[in-house]
Amino acid sequence: MDLSYMAEMPIEEFQQRRAAVLAQLPNNSGLLVFSNVEQQRTASSTYPFRQDNYFWYLTGFNEPNAILLLKKSELGEQSILFLRPSDPLMETWNGRRLGVERAPATLHLDQAFSIDEVRQQLPQLLNGLDTLYHAEEMQAWGDELVRQTFSLMRTQQRQGMKIPTTQVCWRHILDEMRLFKSDNEIRLMQQAGQISALAHIRAMKQARAQRFEYELASEMLHEFNRFGARWEAYPAIIASGENACILHYTENDRLMQDGDLVLIDAGCEFAMYAGDITRTFPVNGKFSPAQREIYQIVLDAQKRAIELLVNGSSIKQANDEVLRIKVAGLVRLGLLSGDVETLITEKAYTRFYMHSLGHWLGLDVHDVGSYGVERQRELQPGMVVTVEPGLYIPNAEDIPEAYRGIGVRIEDDLLITEYGNKVLTAAVPKEIADIEALMAQKD
Ligand code: GLY
Ligand code: MN
Ligand code: MN
Repeated sequence: MDLSYMAEMPIEEFQQRRAAVLAQLPNNSGLLVFSNVEQQRTASSTYPFRQDNYFWYLTGFNEPNAILLLKKSELGEQSILFLRPSDPLMETWNGRRLGVERAPATLHLDQAFSIDEVRQQLPQLLNGLDTLYHAEEMQAWGDELVRQTFSLMRTQQRQGMKIPTTQVCWRHILDEMRLFKSDNEIRLMQQAGQISALAHIRAMKQARAQRFEYELASEMLHEFNRFGARWEAYPAIIASGENACILHYTENDRLMQDGDLVLIDAGCEFAMYAGDITRTFPVNGKFSPAQREIYQIVLDAQKRAIELLVNGSSIKQANDEVLRIKVAGLVRLGLLSGDVETLITEKAYTRFYMHSLGHWLGLDVHDVGSYGVERQRELQPGMVVTVEPGLYIPNAEDIPEAYRGIGVRIEDDLLITEYGNKVLTAAVPKEIADIEALMAQKD
């Protein structure tokens, strides 16, 4: 795969998505989506800006303080954007803005207004509509603006202002669209998977005892940046030794020791799309016998799950099989005792495996889209799902010493295809022999 260029989504695709949303709206309705706002980090600095994923999905516009209004009325279907106006002084200090004049042509929109005019313009634009689609509790400033707009409209009812009588949340519409990836999205996600895999390979080669966990995070970020991915898709988990048993460990500040395993759950964000990979490997390049035993159970479960996560199946079906493999393995090692099916029914495994097998992946690392009851939703082509079984053996008195504190997770990203699936993250090894061979070539 050619990773030497910065891929991006063609602007026409955002336009097509807006058309697809509008096609699902009733006549005489409007839909509002709010951008993210900047987040303060310290008194005089903000976190790097990250756009709201729904807003991005419909606009491809990467500035804060913007609002998209999709409107379907007797005037036809319109896409209208409010955004920050050009301002040479502000732009000299804080960076470029697209500006109102250039927005319609650049983003293929019908109309643009300055965000400074939203209080005057929005009541006029919503006047006479029957239904407003708005998702509450996503952007606090959006909720506040809708509330203020409605109360202003109420004061003008005598002058003929007509307020939308029905308010509907738009999430079910957009979540369902986002769940099924287009060909362009799949290309970007393949690249996110490939870059994330290269970064894991680098981390394997760079691991050494007496290095801090966070040094591996920076090695990975370096690799992301080399291939055009600016950010991590989520805070990397670099969990050595017993830290691997903390599912969302992100301190990453321990010195790795000879004899530790290190669990790395990290992925890049490429063109806004997430990669999500976990690999677990020995810091010194050689699995101990006990580490090998636990690792092989998780690997067998993960490989079986990949066979099962195909068109027409479900996450639940694959997880049922994963539970059988893991519980049988734990019984074999003496970590559980009893009948495998009974132990599963009694959920005896939750001491060692307490998260789900996988989740949707896309613009969000835990992407949107309904899962159905107990993740029984039928898998269909175009969905992207992670497969991430793990085993976490507590450091407890009743556990044989050799197994205490071992945590293993192995995670890949799968595109569901018509005939099965495609592993987007296959480039990073996971067989014990392959990991040990790669780590022997440390550079
Ligand atoms: N990286 C978060 C997860 O695997 O769900
Ligand atoms: Mn992960
Ligand atoms: Mn995941």
